Amino acid sequence: MSHDAITSHLKETRRFEPPADFAKSARIPTREAYDAMYKESVESPETFWRRETADLVLRTPWTTTLEWKLPHAKWFQGATLNITESCLDRHLMTATRNKAAIIWEGELGATKTLTYAQLHRETVLLADALRKHGIVKGDRVAIYMGMVPEVAVAMLACARLGAVHTVIFGGFAADAIRDRIHDCQAKIVITQDGGYRRGSVLGLKEAVDKALAQPQAASVQKTIVLQHLGHDRCPVKMTEGRDLWWHEIVGESLGESREATVCEAEDPLFILYTSGSTGKPKGVLHTTLGYLAGVHVTSKYVFDLRESDVYWCTADVGWVTGHSYIVYGPLSNGATCLMYEGAPNFPDWGRFWRLIEKHGVTTLYTAPTAIRAFMRQGDEWPKKSDLSSLRLLGSVGEPINPEAWMWYREQIGGNRCPIVDTWWQTETGSILMTTVPGAAASKPGSTGLPMFGVVADVVKKDGTPVGAGEGGMLILKQPWPSMLRTLWNDDERFMKSYFSDVPGVYFTGDGARRDEDGYYWVVGRIDDVLNVAGHRIGTAEIESALVSHPSVAEAAAVGRPDDLKGQALVVFVSLRPGVKSGPDLVTALGEHVAKEIGKFARPDAIRFTDSLPKTRSGKIMRRLLKDVAAGRASTGDTSTLEDLSVLAKLRADED
Ligand code: WTA
Repeated sequence: MSHDAITSHLKETRRFEPPADFAKSARIPTREAYDAMYKESVESPETFWRRETADLVLRTPWTTTLEWKLPHAKWFQGATLNITESCLDRHLMTATRNKAAIIWEGELGATKTLTYAQLHRETVLLADALRKHGIVKGDRVAIYMGMVPEVAVAMLACARLGAVHTVIFGGFAADAIRDRIHDCQAKIVITQDGGYRRGSVLGLKEAVDKALAQPQAASVQKTIVLQHLGHDRCPVKMTEGRDLWWHEIVGESLGESREATVCEAEDPLFILYTSGSTGKPKGVLHTTLGYLAGVHVTSKYVFDLRESDVYWCTADVGWVTGHSYIVYGPLSNGATCLMYEGAPNFPDWGRFWRLIEKHGVTTLYTAPTAIRAFMRQGDEWPKKSDLSSLRLLGSVGEPINPEAWMWYREQIGGNRCPIVDTWWQTETGSILMTTVPGAAASKPGSTGLPMFGVVADVVKKDGTPVGAGEGGMLILKQPWPSMLRTLWNDDERFMKSYFSDVPGVYFTGDGARRDEDGYYWVVGRIDDVLNVAGHRIGTAEIESALVSHPSVAEAAAVGRPDDLKGQALVVFVSLRPGVKSGPDLVTALGEHVAKEIGKFARPDAIRFTDSLPKTRSGKIMRRLLKDVAAGRASTGDTSTLEDLSVLAKLRADED
């Protein structure tokens, strides 16, 4: 592990008090109120969580708040529920019944609204169909879809039956789909014909077909295909006996069995694959009530959600942000969510801002990479739209640089909206650190204070805390309800990945510092995980994709600082004997990675070297490669780095 990502000095000193207008009616209106809630959540978790989950319509209440046997946490044992009753059924008895749950806008401008009653009905119908096709509690169902309202229906329909969904981001290629299906032995895949991205059609069913053609995906018995684009725009091949049209199987169902499966608090809810520092993707497992409690409470307080809000989280539902803050968290709070199918810059850089004006969006939750991209296009784009409906802005996924934070505040938030910078991970399930809007001042670039029940610290490798303002490893000292429970089928890796770097506590993989006010500043990953444009990419996955190409002998992937994407992906490749480097091979290797993983993982630069610099024990010297990558920024540089071995010799004693 390298610590060079950690910087230890505080440069940013600006501070913005909560806007008075916002604080006046905020759910947490003062710092004292936050402090009291935080204290209670840590010292009396039972009282805190019982009160804060009181509206979630549990079938039976819990008897044990927490059982903690490192590394295994069990929260709220004894409780039974169905999470869809907490997210949907409970609203049918109130005025929320006919309120919009999801307002969807397609890339070409079509819109569609599902009220809570309609979303409930769609969910019940699909659940009924899944049941008829053999899905029972505990079965795994893979979902490979774009940003359409039906992706939420598919997730909720699985949850209705107690089946475990695994959503695969629509940007993943066939081989990545196959690996995920194989790992969790999914029985059904729910997909759609295709979707729009930047004006062109992406064939989603086609990618599923390619994945299922391979023997590793043999667990899949059926696919359910949503007709989103229709035959003229996106013809698909249906395999007799395996592929079913969504509208046909749902049409056959009267939805007579509306009954939701009763689940235990600790029953698995979903698996979401994410990248680790070594090896294949990790199947992060979340269970039912702890996860729900985490996303429910954070959605309510971090976004200060109100009956009248139109809330828009721009993440893709294929990542954890979409799971927690498009589907489960907002719905459990009865919120109205905007969902947008397409690219932020389609047909031009004004699209996001027009969407805000058109739908009266009050709350925008997006990623720093998007903010930086908009910033580059100039202030004239947001100025063309009326953004006065906005009252709160959020940021997630990567560190936000103060310059982008200020632009977001001034140009998008009109200096009137608080910005919540939320730190969390696939593994944490819900936001663990955030600016508390209305209650605490925000500092550009700081992820603020711990959320309820979160006990964090910044430590050295031996576990001793560092001083205020000093860099170190970000750890979590106590279990929290929405934490991952294990890695699917790999409990050993679970322990090793999270609880062994700093013995006995959860290590996040991030470097951070905490200032004198107790605010956290997350610097970024200090393990071998990259964060490229907010996408989490494991260096090991990239490397194994590259070495599977016949020309490649060895490969090493590192991150290079990038003004727009936060980090850019640079790979160093040594070739097999007799293979000649050149621009064609750069293109071929880029395409190979896109095919193996997905287009979003295509390297920004590919550099050839005779051999990779290694320590005497044979470890690749990543620190050196990072320096080389950062120092010679020319993209697509194909020259052989002859001096690499010399540099390696010079630095051989350092690692
Ligand atoms: C990074 C995304 C700084 C961090 C929700 C973490 C952040 C990784 C922030 C998890 C933030 C997320 N400031 N860094 N506000 N939010 N990160 O699993 O390095 O896709 O470990 O979850 O993103 O990425 P993941």
